[in-house]
Amino acid sequence: MDMLELIRTRKSVRTFDGKAVTENDRKKLTEYIKTITNPYGIPVEFVLLDAGEHGLSSPVIQGERLYIAGKVPLTEYCAEAFGFSFEKLVLYAWSLGIGTTWIGGTMKRERFEQKASVNDGEIMPCVSPLGYPAKKRSIKEIGMRTAIKADKRIKTDDLFFENDLSTPLRTDDVTVQNALEAVRLAPSAVNKQPWRIVKCGNAYHFYEKQTLSSSGAKWDVQKVDLGIAICHFMSIAGGTLSVTKPDITADNDMEYIATITL
Ligand SMILES: Cc1cc2nc3c(=O)[nH]c(=O)nc-3n(C[C@H](O)[C@H](O)[C@H](O)COP(=O)(O)O)c2cc1C
Repeated sequence: MDMLELIRTRKSVRTFDGKAVTENDRKKLTEYIKTITNPYGIPVEFVLLDAGEHGLSSPVIQGERLYIAGKVPLTEYCAEAFGFSFEKLVLYAWSLGIGTTWIGGTMKRERFEQKASVNDGEIMPCVSPLGYPAKKRSIKEIGMRTAIKADKRIKTDDLFFENDLSTPLRTDDVTVQNALEAVRLAPSAVNKQPWRIVKCGNAYHFYEKQTLSSSGAKWDVQKVDLGIAICHFMSIAGGTLSVTKPDITADNDMEYIATITL
């Protein structure tokens, strides 16, 4: 499967077949993790946690035997860097037929943080189960996907713009079309899809449309979503990341995040 196909076929998996991840796949995951980097240059550490041994579970997940937790130093851009690196892992796992679900809320956070040995100055924004999808989704999973409208995505004309935040982007460049489609399909917290992109020449400015409150939290979960979107975009189109706010008029609920230049 090529990258766009991986992105198109990936869905959150909340119902697993109860089988352990094979030694071979575990080895592949461990080797791949060593190669994961992000354009922010912020290290993200991954910890594999046996669910049974550590008594780990999530109320929305069934049949899982293994979790993976990600940790990152609490610094500027750490949420975006985390989103980028963790999504690399998610897509690689899917290339092996291993299902995942980003979990930032529906878990006993303290227990996961303890088992993942999260230190002072570090955060663990999300974890994911790792395992082989069951043949059928549980009733709970079906209900959850319906409630969250997990199969719906915002229309491209409301996400991607040219020169300002109101003119829909039109492009004949197939690579760019595919990169935008990859962004559109990305997973996000409560499926809010907070990413917006403004194209100016060969620069693609990423904005966050804040739709979830993060008051009191040490990090903004929607910046993790933006890291995922940037990961999808760059996985298809490449480019280099920089952070210099462009001179574009934006509403108060829109925050500039980064620019990818092709
Ligand atoms: C940062 C982040 C946090 C998430 N947290 C949870 C969670 O706590 N529990 C859960 O069941 N799903 C969680 N999700 C999964 C989303 O609900 C899911 O990606 C979205 O509904 C789209 O569905 P899909 O992944 O099947 O495309 C999270 C996703 C992201 C990106």
